[in-house]
Amino acid sequence: MAAVQGAKPERKGFLGWLNKRLPVDEFISSQLTGYYAPKNFNIWYFFGSLALVVLVLQLATGIFLTMFYKPGELTSFDSVEYIMREINYGWLIRYLHSTGASAFFIVVYLHMFRAFLYGSYRAPRELLWILGMLVYLALMAEAFMGYVLPWGNMSFWGAQVIVNLFSTIPAIGPPLVEWIRGDYGIADATLNRFFSLHVVAVPLALLLLVMLHLVALRQTGSNNPDGIEIKKNLGPDGHPIDGIPFHPYYTVKDVVGVGVFFVLFTIVVFFVPTFGGLFLEGPNFEPANPMSTPEHIAPVWYFTPYYAILRAVPNQRMGALLMGLAVFAFFLMPWLDQCKVKSIRYKPFISKLALAIFAVSFVCLGYLGLQPAEGLYVALARIFTVLYFAFFALMPFYSRMGTPKPEPKRVTYHAH
Ligand code: HEM
Repeated sequence: MAAVQGAKPERKGFLGWLNKRLPVDEFISSQLTGYYAPKNFNIWYFFGSLALVVLVLQLATGIFLTMFYKPGELTSFDSVEYIMREINYGWLIRYLHSTGASAFFIVVYLHMFRAFLYGSYRAPRELLWILGMLVYLALMAEAFMGYVLPWGNMSFWGAQVIVNLFSTIPAIGPPLVEWIRGDYGIADATLNRFFSLHVVAVPLALLLLVMLHLVALRQTGSNNPDGIEIKKNLGPDGHPIDGIPFHPYYTVKDVVGVGVFFVLFTIVVFFVPTFGGLFLEGPNFEPANPMSTPEHIAPVWYFTPYYAILRAVPNQRMGALLMGLAVFAFFLMPWLDQCKVKSIRYKPFISKLALAIFAVSFVCLGYLGLQPAEGLYVALARIFTVLYFAFFALMPFYSRMGTPKPEPKRVTYHAH
């Protein structure tokens, strides 16, 4: 029989056999070569794929650490020391994992900031954004519990502070804290359940959420630095005029991003793995000691903006509430932003200023959360806390103010 003109010849051999049983070619053509992404992605669009790379890195190094780590009040700290000193390349695996945790947050914060820049949280991508926020929550839980596992002194006291925050919940607070700890204090039972959650439950939840995040992305398609929908402008072949096939164009481009990332990442791993106490804190090189509190209890840098908000308020219950609200506010972004355009490129000055003030406040709160809660530090933390919340609370008003620049009909693209 004559072959149908234009139809792809059927694969032979192993791939032919495989394709009859698993839709490999179909997947590649529908999700990669046939998936069109905006052609004007810039550097901000590297961070999603980098987050995927770090996720895989954390899973891989985590598996090897789990082979030698022994959870338990009497064994945790020593098993980590054993990994560092006796296991072949144990130090490398551990530093890849501990640096990977910080890298994860750097990449994810930049990934989220991109959404703030280009209004990627706005319709039709609200669910994509919410799924991203759930990923962020899972990531925070994962990082917190992982930090407790080496059972260093900051692990112990950090867990003490964070778990106690739940006691501020009215009525159920104190019994809830006891239930979380599984004991009257942070103890062996707490450590064991954190290990189980860190190694099994939360990674599974993370994987599921990331998958849903990507499925939601596939449904709406990516936004882009101009914040205009490329799907509204289709060519005769039914593909967006301003889109290019994800593979090979963006797969190859992303490889460049991954290369640059690994250069920077390995410099940290090999030369400054503690990153001056920011990625691995000094007190955590001492075993947990319930009789000796570290001089300043501070979480790892990626939690410090929220920690600064917590400590900016004298009342602990109020502080904990504000801290929760500081994270929850992100969920509301799709509905708070009422500007007529999505991208910062076309937003009026006032929206640009608000975003700049917010970004500065977040970074400054991060710095203040690392400092002792006293004097000027607290005063500054209060000012930045007010600015932080003003960004969200006033958004429905200021985002309507001013006249946006006209959006272009086609994406802005300069050939290299
Ligand atoms: C493990 C963590 C995460 C992974 C692996 C991940 C992965 C990705 C990937 C691969 C993309 C497409 C490429 C890109 O646009 O950069 C993407 C897009 C997106 N992600 Fe994430 N993401 C993660 C966390 C988050 C978080 C925490 C948020 C926000 C709360 C978020 C919000 C978004 C949004 C809004 C887009 C669409 C951006 C646009 O099209 O302009 N993601 N994500």
